[in-house]
Formats: sequence, structure tokens, C-alpha cells
Amino acid sequence: MAFLVFEGIDGSGKSTLIDLFCNKLNEHKLPFIKTKEPGGTKIGKKIRRLLLEKTNTKLSPMTETLLYYADRKQNIEEVIKPNLKKNITVISDRYWASTSAYQYGGRKISENFITALRHQICKDYEPDLWILLDIPIEITLKRLFISKANKRDRMEMENSSFHQKVRDYYLSLAKKNPEKWLILKGEKKSSILLEELISHLKSKKILF
Ligand code: TYD
Repeated sequence: MAFLVFEGIDGSGKSTLIDLFCNKLNEHKLPFIKTKEPGGTKIGKKIRRLLLEKTNTKLSPMTETLLYYADRKQNIEEVIKPNLKKNITVISDRYWASTSAYQYGGRKISENFITALRHQICKDYEPDLWILLDIPIEITLKRLFISKANKRDRMEMENSSFHQKVRDYYLSLAKKNPEKWLILKGEKKSSILLEELISHLKSKKILF
């Protein structure tokens, strides 16, 4: 059993890798549950809509931060906590590092405020491993334009310097704690990334 979290900027290829990884867990008959933030629960889906709706231009950065944490608390209570308790592996598409990277790294919301929320809400649920899909923003912006065109959400509409700050913050977080973070190069083929991930988990004796 393990708690694994995938992180990365928008368009980094997280979802594709998560799907491949979940297929692998199925092949090995390893019990797991997949969740995501924001929107891993029924209540979380409603919060997600508030957060990502493009017309919500008046959402203040502090409200935004609190909503991401409200969604997270619900995800912990409904998904993360009960499944880990039953020895079921939890795979999460984003967790607290997203708020640190986007709302602190990108928006410059007070670090103390975000750290206090993290301690209050996440302290008993720390991932065994964070997987960062790191990729140059020029590539992700191109991907987003091709795949989403006018359908980009409120966060994806941010400019490239915002996404660059988010990427830089993720990298600094991962480099500060190399034991807990695996950095993968998102521009590689997803089958290669899957191999790299599995071999890292084997070397750490996590799951495999
Ligand atoms: P995500 O669901 O990964 O995007 P997509 O639907 O394109 O796969 O994430 C939604 C957006 O929310 C993404 O731009 C990152 C942002 N986000 C934050 O800004 N802070 C957070 O704490 C989280 C969890 C996500």
C-alpha cells in the first residue's frame, strides 16, 4: 500500500501517465483508488466548478486558496483517509504541492498562510512519493492551444510568466527533498516515463 501523488503544470502529461500507471497496478492486481484535486468527491466537483469557471474573474486569490483547501479536506476525509486505513493504495492527481506551486509560487499568496493550512489539514497524510512531471512551458502552452483552443479554464488562461513561476516553484520543492520527489521529464514518451517510474518505485521498495 502507498500514497502516491502526481504533480506538474497544466499540459505536462500527468493524466496520461496516471492512466498507464493504473493499468500497471491492475495487471499486478494491486488494489488502488484514483482521485484528483480539485474534484475527487461529489462536493469537490462543485468546488472545482467554482474554481475553474472562466467567468469567475472576481474570485480573490485568498478565496481561491481556501477553496482548493476545502476541496482537499473533503478528498482527505472521503477518499484518502478511509482507503489508506483499509491498506488500499491512493493515487492522487495533485495534492498540497499544487497549492504551494500555484497559489504561493504563482500568485504569491502568503507562504505562512498556506503552510498553516497545510499543517492543519494535511499533516497526518503525507505521500510516500511525489512524482513531478517537469516540462518546459513552451511545450505545454502549445499542447493546450492545440488540444483546448478556446476551452481553456480560468487557471489555464493565466499568462506564461505565471506558469513559469509555478514550474520553477515545483522544481525548487522537488530539489529540496529528493528522497520524496521523483522528477520525470514530461517531454519523453509516456511509455518511457512509466518504465522510469516503476523502476524508481522498485528501487525504493514502494508497491513493487
Ligand atoms: P487539473 O485538474 O490538473 O487540470 P486539468 O483539468 O487541465 O487536467 O487542475 C486544475 C487546475 O487547478 C490546474 O490549473 C491547477 C490548479 N490548481 C491550483 O491552482 N491549486 C491547487 O491547489 C490545485 C489542486 C490545482
